[in-house]
Formats: sequence, C-alpha cells, structure tokens
Amino acid sequence: MRLSLLLLALVGSVLAKPLSVPVSRAASSDAHTNGMRLVRNGESNSCVKRTRPNTVVLDGSYMLSAAKDVAQGGYGTELTNILTLADYWMTQGPWTVTSKKVDVPGGTKKDYASQAPYWWPANWNDPSSSQTCPYVQRDGLRNPDVDLYTDRRDGGSMMNSTYMLSLAWWYTGDYKYREHAGKVLRTWFIDEATRMTPNLQHAQIIPCANTGRFIGIIDFSQQYTDVIDAVALLNTGYDEAWCEADAASFEDWNRQFLTWLTDSPFGKAELGYQNNHGAFAAMQIAALASWLGDDATASRYLQDQKAHLDATISANGSQPLEIQRTTSFHYSTFALVAYLRMVAIGQKEGVDVDLWGYEGPEGQSIPAAVRYILPAAASGAQAWPHPEINFKRFGAYDIVQFAADMGMKEAKDILDQIEEPFHGGTWALSPAVQQLDSTLF
Ligand SMILES: *[C@@H]1O[C@H](CO)[C@@H](O)[C@H](O)[C@H]1NC(C)=O
Ligand SMILES: *[C@@H]1O[C@H](CO)[C@@H](O)[C@H](O)[C@H]1NC(C)=O
Repeated sequence: MRLSLLLLALVGSVLAKPLSVPVSRAASSDAHTNGMRLVRNGESNSCVKRTRPNTVVLDGSYMLSAAKDVAQGGYGTELTNILTLADYWMTQGPWTVTSKKVDVPGGTKKDYASQAPYWWPANWNDPSSSQTCPYVQRDGLRNPDVDLYTDRRDGGSMMNSTYMLSLAWWYTGDYKYREHAGKVLRTWFIDEATRMTPNLQHAQIIPCANTGRFIGIIDFSQQYTDVIDAVALLNTGYDEAWCEADAASFEDWNRQFLTWLTDSPFGKAELGYQNNHGAFAAMQIAALASWLGDDATASRYLQDQKAHLDATISANGSQPLEIQRTTSFHYSTFALVAYLRMVAIGQKEGVDVDLWGYEGPEGQSIPAAVRYILPAAASGAQAWPHPEINFKRFGAYDIVQFAADMGMKEAKDILDQIEEPFHGGTWALSPAVQQLDSTLF
C-alpha cells in the first residue's frame, strides 16, 4: 500500500466515527460554504474553502458536510476505498472515441459507436461463404467483432474514472486527482481533435440492418449522471486542472446532448420505451435539465414518470417486465437504480417531485419495489422467486443503503447483512445509487 493511503487508512481507523451512516438527505447542513483543512497526501494540511456543489443525484449540502467530516478524520474506510479506485484510474486513460479502429457506418470516428452484441454475420457457420448480410440473432452468444467498437468499454472507463477521481479530489484536496479528471474530461468532451459528437446516433448498430438504434441510449443513461455530478464537484473552483473555459465547453456539450435527447426521434423513442430503458432516459433528461439550471423541465419529466411507475411496478412491488428475464434479480435492481436516482433528483430544491411518496392506483410504488428485493438482498438467491442465472447479491447494496437513509425500517434492519461490492462500500461518501453488477462484458 502506498504511504499516503496507509496514512489515510490509519487516520481513518483511529478517528472514524461510530458506524452510523448519516441520514444523508434529511440531516445535511444548510451552510453553503465550509472552510476546512483537507488531508493532502496524508501529510501536510491545506486550508481549502469548499462551496456547495451543484450536484443533482448526489445531494450538494450533504457532500459539503461529508467533506467536513472527512477533514475531521471521519469515514476512513470509505475514503480508503475511494482512493484505491482513484489511484487505479490515475494510471489509466484518457480515452477518446477517435481511437477506435473501425469506421462508423453513416458517421465519422468522432461519433460514439457500439454494436449489438448478439448479432452475427449470415456466414457465421460457413467460412467458405463471403455473404455477411443479413446479420442473424444468436441470443446470449456474444460476437467478438463487437469489441472492435471500443467506445462502450472506453466510455465506461471515462465515466468511472471521472467520478472516482473527482470524489478523491473533493475529499482530500489532492491536486493530482483533479488534474487527471480534467485531462480525461477534456479528451472525451472538449478537445477539437478527440471530442465525441454530442449524440448517440450510432449506438447498438446491427450491421447490414441499421447505423444505430434508439435503445443504444442506455449505453450512456445507465451511468452518465455520475459524470455531471463529478463536474459539479470540480466546478466549485477553477484552476489550471479544470478552468472556467473547460467548464463552459463541457456545459455547451451537454446543452447539445440534452436537446438531442429531448427532440430527436431516437431520444423520444427511448423515453417512451417500456421497462428500465424509459426510466433511465427520463432520469438522464431530468438530471441534465436540472444541472443546466432548468428545474421546471426536470420536474415535468419526473412528474411524467408516475404513469411509467404505474405501468411497470405491480401491487406487490415486483416489476413484471424485469422478473421474466433470465437475469431477473439483476434487472430488478437495475431498474431501481433509475428510480432511486429519480427520487434523488426530485428531492433537489427547485425540482420538488416526491416520487418516493408516490403511490399508483393499485398501490404501486418505488418503496414497494425496494421491499420486493430486500429478502434476496439480505439472504441470497434462495429468497428470490424468479429466474436468475447469475445471482450477485451485492447488486442491491446501494439500493438498501438509499432506502435506509430514506427511513425505511425493513432496509435499516438488514444493513448489517448486505453484501459489499468488490471494491468495498463507499456509500457514506458517494450516496448516489450505482449499478454495481454491470453486465457490460
Ligand atoms: C465501472 O464501475 C462499475 C461499478 O463498480 C463496475 O461494475 C464496472 O465494471 C466498471 N466499468 C469499467 C469499464 O471499469
Ligand atoms: C407478485 O405479483 C406478480 C404478478 O403481478 C407475480 O408474478 C409474482 O410472482 C408476485 N410475487 C410474489 C412473491 O408473490
């Protein structure tokens, strides 16, 4: 372990508060600024002024008070887990869509592109034939050609790294994390030679059949709000690592992306799609709108989700479209990531939509959908009454934490039974529900 990490771990374990996770959303302080001494490389302290960040899924007031707690030695374990991930990302990237080796049908290298994984050329079982069209579906069997489109994996790395690096900087004030986050962001979104076009017109391509599909929007919507929260943290101050011009360019990119999401045929089709796709689309639009200062639009998209909840959650809390899948526990928790992120966005002052308290005509609700997964989250696959070929109990970790913070007793009662993700829990320092059991590969 590196010296700085070791020191941080020591500081954390000696001074860490008793193991009570704060009620993040209710109990956060109203103060808009904090002057605090942050640990820098585990040794000398620097006095840093933090202002409340304009985060949308993460609660800005909570992030401010959590930084103060960390400066006083709290949350050592969570901080160590964040820094371990951030130190890994320090050695990776930056990434750009222009590095892929294949041409994008109907587009350019600057367009984000990915290929539908289970579709194969017509001659897949006949090497003597040169006929590749039409592509045929072989469900569950992944075509290795898909990997020629490196944007999906690289985009995941871009999102994970900017989030962890920005959190690491926020809590330690260590410039190197901010510097690397800035480099990753400029390469993907800003620099003329390497920036991505602000749309997803070429995601989930099926060769011979199309040059992209609307459902490919999920490549971004399942995680992209982490990036805008990361930038909200960086935007609390400007320097060479991330300056005002960077922030303005990034904002401009997101305005264009949001317009494409709300107005393009693909954006509209994804929003109207049943199951988790529609929920993630709405969540992404609401988050971007609020982040860009348009809370009224954010409110409207969240209000409209009430009808979606009525249709996708049943009275007993199950999600009929998700429980019929072969990986039904994964998809039930996956959809909850979108729902709970929407709950968090709705709590933002100015957005003010109470989706947690909403109940449909038959009693359908987000808390009911959470309760439905709690037995399996606490005790495992035998408590899950639906098909699941790859049960990962830790997929529910953040969901239970969120529900406990919201005051749900059944969730609080099982906090000591839930399974941590591989990288260890970071919830108290990053209380935004993540998809922890990604099925990307
Ligand atoms: C990003 O982080 C998630 C959550 O820890 C993980 O499941 C996923 O595999 C990561 N993706 C990449 C590309 O690192
Ligand atoms: C909940 O209701 C759905 C039908 O709406 C059903 O498929 C499912 O099995 C029920 N779950 C339990 C645990 O009874």
